[in-house]
Amino acid sequence: MFNYFQRQAQCYKVNVSYHEIRNAGEAAQNLPALKKYQMVMVSALVLSTIAFLGINVSSSFQQSSHFELFRNLGGLGPYIRGTGYGSKSEIPNGCVVDQIHMIARHGERYPTDAEGFDATAQKLMNFANFKGTLKPLRRWDWKNVIYDGLNQYGQLTATGPYAGTLTWSKAATEFRTRYPAIWNFSSTEPTRIFASDSTRVIQSAIHFAKNFFANQYESLVELVIISEQDQTGDTLSPTDACPAYMNEGLELGNEKFDTFTATYLPNIADRFNKQNPNLNLLPQDIYTMQEMCGYEINALGESPLCSVFEEEDWANFQYSRDLFFFYSCGPGNKYSITMGFPWINATRNLLLEGPRSGALFFSFTHDGSIVPMITVLGLFNDVELPSERRRRFKTTDIVPMGARLVLERLSCGSSINVRVLVNDAVIPIETCNSGPGSSCELGQFDALITKQGDRAGSFTSICGLTEGEDSISFLWQRKN
Ligand SMILES: *[C@@H]1O[C@H](CO)[C@@H](O)[C@H](O)[C@H]1NC(C)=O
Ligand SMILES: *[C@@H]1O[C@H](CO)[C@@H](O)[C@H](O)[C@H]1NC(C)=O
Repeated sequence: MFNYFQRQAQCYKVNVSYHEIRNAGEAAQNLPALKKYQMVMVSALVLSTIAFLGINVSSSFQQSSHFELFRNLGGLGPYIRGTGYGSKSEIPNGCVVDQIHMIARHGERYPTDAEGFDATAQKLMNFANFKGTLKPLRRWDWKNVIYDGLNQYGQLTATGPYAGTLTWSKAATEFRTRYPAIWNFSSTEPTRIFASDSTRVIQSAIHFAKNFFANQYESLVELVIISEQDQTGDTLSPTDACPAYMNEGLELGNEKFDTFTATYLPNIADRFNKQNPNLNLLPQDIYTMQEMCGYEINALGESPLCSVFEEEDWANFQYSRDLFFFYSCGPGNKYSITMGFPWINATRNLLLEGPRSGALFFSFTHDGSIVPMITVLGLFNDVELPSERRRRFKTTDIVPMGARLVLERLSCGSSINVRVLVNDAVIPIETCNSGPGSSCELGQFDALITKQGDRAGSFTSICGLTEGEDSISFLWQRKN
């Protein structure tokens, strides 16, 4: 068993050095031999198409036809649309969207330094003659992914078909296409875009804003950067901002994670080591290899690491990450509602005010900040995380790289409604979804959030703070 807490980066802050912040734009300029990448990209585009169709991802990967690798990468792989429950995502007839709210995760990224993949990578690169299942790793080289650590660790990927830089550029175009009438582009009124203070988050916000506002980006966009250091409810990174959670609350997810991974990783290590005497892979090497599959796809579009595992191994990997998120910052953790409430509360207030308070509210942050907000809305709320595969709470459906929780304010004649989309799929609120397009009538939505506010309590006191705010103050476009 190994302690995931040492390197877990999702539900708490990864320290970003000043160096990384200063050099955010440079990673893209350090591309190795372009030819090689072009080849990778062509095959990766084909691969991505078949991956989405649910067909075999690589020839050596024996899968049943319903298996989709990208849905089993536990939030470490490329953006993927949510599965949803079958509600159409078109704007319902007779309604117009007059306000949108988004809280988004940064795009696809390289691993962070803290994740410490280098030792495992070196072990694999030093072993010359792989046999059996690991044969595809004979020429594998982690340096194709990380060739300039200081400028890459923790940053958006800038190469391949799933580059994090592309994901948010493309999403912006999709948004502008989806909501053609929501913004008067002749207006000279500036729009504030909100980002928590981490380079990959800020870069995602910039790629989005540049492509949404296009040639008006320079004149219209005001980027508002919110500290990830301040301990207060007035934040976009509530897990980092809540000391009681950091000291004690987070641990539950680690325990569930450690117990479960101990049941599947050693078997895989045995399988590989038997075929390759002296390789001596440890359980944590196996986990790292599964993680590196996701990261290599983010950077290069494909990875031979993905093909050495069986379907069952991926199901277990996904489940380990679902356990971690569910119990560390999702429905299974008592701090989640408290941490997710400030952003939901501020958003509820804006929805009540309607378009006179502004039309566009785009915020960017990390996965661990979004899962608590989703918990406040009661989405994907299994009571305990069931061990069988039919659970609703799947990290890949909730916070893949580039994840987005969107609330649409639908003005439908005499009624105003709120509709929730998670990763472009409509997710009806369980107790309130009888409005057009599975939406929730605004008054009922308001009542539901008030009820959750009672459960959430005061951010300051529950987080053990002696000062700080319970509410978000920065989320506005027009000050009353
Ligand atoms: C859009 O904004 C421009 C400039 O402020 C204004 O003249 C025009 O009337 C607006 N159009 C609509 C449809 O509100
Ligand atoms: C929710 O927001 C309103 C308006 O800013 C504020 O007065 C209220 O205290 C907030 N509720 C909580 C529980 O923080």
